[in-house]
Amino acid sequence: MSAPFLIGEAMTGGYGPVDILHSCTLSVEKGEIAVIVGPNGAGKSTAMKAVFGMLPLRQGTVRLDGEDITRLSPQARVRKGMGFVPQTHNIFTSMTVEENLEMGAFIRQDAAIRDTMAQIYDLFPILKQKRNQPAGELSGGQRQQVAVGRALMTRPKVLMLDEPTAGVSPIVMDELFDRIIEIARSGISILMVEQNARQALEIADKGFVLVQGSNRYTDTGAALLADPEVRKSFLGG
Ligand SMILES: Nc1ncnc2c1ncn2[C@@H]1O[C@H](COP(=O)(O)OP(=O)(O)OP(=O)(O)O)[C@@H](O)[C@H]1O
Ligand SMILES: [Mg+2]
Repeated sequence: MSAPFLIGEAMTGGYGPVDILHSCTLSVEKGEIAVIVGPNGAGKSTAMKAVFGMLPLRQGTVRLDGEDITRLSPQARVRKGMGFVPQTHNIFTSMTVEENLEMGAFIRQDAAIRDTMAQIYDLFPILKQKRNQPAGELSGGQRQQVAVGRALMTRPKVLMLDEPTAGVSPIVMDELFDRIIEIARSGISILMVEQNARQALEIADKGFVLVQGSNRYTDTGAALLADPEVRKSFLGG
């Protein structure tokens, strides 16, 4: 079997002297959707930060397309093809929708930025309609679209999303998941944390259940959904 497209392998680290992650492993294949679930405080966001280079690791490695990127800064990882939408503070609220997208393209020098923006407006038509409005005036679901769109502006190979459906209605959640599936079908790998665990595992090729900074279960989305232990402890029965 070939190596995963992106893998954070046996990651151990945390904030200051306190380890939050204990030999935690996350991975995603090319064009697939991998979902991370687990209780509040399990270390899901910490693990995402570690994969993106925002958390110094005491042990473990991060590899993208076979290359060891463990020592690279987040900016360098963006240049290598990683996009990240953090759980909080993921848009500039006082800037317009379009300015947010322009900010997303900060590493690009080429002239095709407008083409990418047009693709994002095709994916999220409401953003085109609201492009001159301050992003802070948008609904929760629309703000998440801005955040995802901003990350897509660098044309990433892998998109990392930390709770993209937090605080949105079930209908808006379904719509966001449909767009995420569409992004994955275009060949972009998705590594995402979700608190809507059941719905997220339904669209996941692979799922990771994290507990106290460690891997508790790792399997296909379908297998995790069918596992009585996983259902009882993490999916509400
Ligand atoms: N910046 C920080 N400094 C110190 N400790 C932190 C920091 N951020 C998170 N922690 C601690 O690390 C642990 C894991 O937090 P983390 O945010 O990764 O969990 P999570 O699984 O993403 O939770 P949630 O479901 O609430 O988003 C928690 O005990 C938290 O208090
Ligand atoms: Mg979190």
